[in-house]
Amino acid sequence: MKFFVDTAEINEIRELAATGLLDGVTTNPSLIAKSGRRILDVIAEICEVVSGPVSAEVAATEHGQMMKEAAVLRKIAPNVAIKVPLTVDGLKTCHALAQEGVMVNVTLCFSAAQALLAAKAGAAFISPFIGRLDDIGQDGMGLIADIVQIYANYPNIKTEVLAASIRHPIHLIEAAKMGADVATIPPGVIKQLYNHPLTDKGLAGFLKDWAGTGQSIV
Ligand code: E4P
Repeated sequence: MKFFVDTAEINEIRELAATGLLDGVTTNPSLIAKSGRRILDVIAEICEVVSGPVSAEVAATEHGQMMKEAAVLRKIAPNVAIKVPLTVDGLKTCHALAQEGVMVNVTLCFSAAQALLAAKAGAAFISPFIGRLDDIGQDGMGLIADIVQIYANYPNIKTEVLAASIRHPIHLIEAAKMGADVATIPPGVIKQLYNHPLTDKGLAGFLKDWAGTGQSIV
């Protein structure tokens, strides 16, 4: 499973990239707003640090305008994936960009039917939002399972299932069990993945016993 980080904070991205575990980055207009910076600067800086796909989302809602924005965003670096919302105009834009060989991430997916449309439009990634479905009492994980199952029925579908709106490690584990290709994870949740109380307890025990030997390795 590929790990993307869901943030526009360059310092967090640098820190995670240094672990070697980061395969890509997703941003959205809210994350760019939170960074307080200009989208073109942020995306350019992220692309210098990460060689995998970096999603930059259009802000327009009309196809022609989306194409104009995509033209600016894709000039930033070859690893920019243009993110479009799952609307008729978004899918039209996805289709047009995919024909030109551009990676497109179709976002704000909340149903399996929408995911099928995105695949037909040639999306490189479909982003079903798990947490936001859970928030309204619907089954976010069930949506991932449905999409993975449907896509598996059609080997010609190359769209990768990118589990998004992940709120905690269980979302990630369940998505991995279901075979989601990618997860985009907030930095705080990535940090949680490392933690287990038995790891801390075990390490403390090893260090105590090691100190008792009086040895040093180097
Ligand atoms: C995906 O690409 C989105 O940026 C993101 O996962 C949305 O998550 P949220 O529901 O926590 O805002």
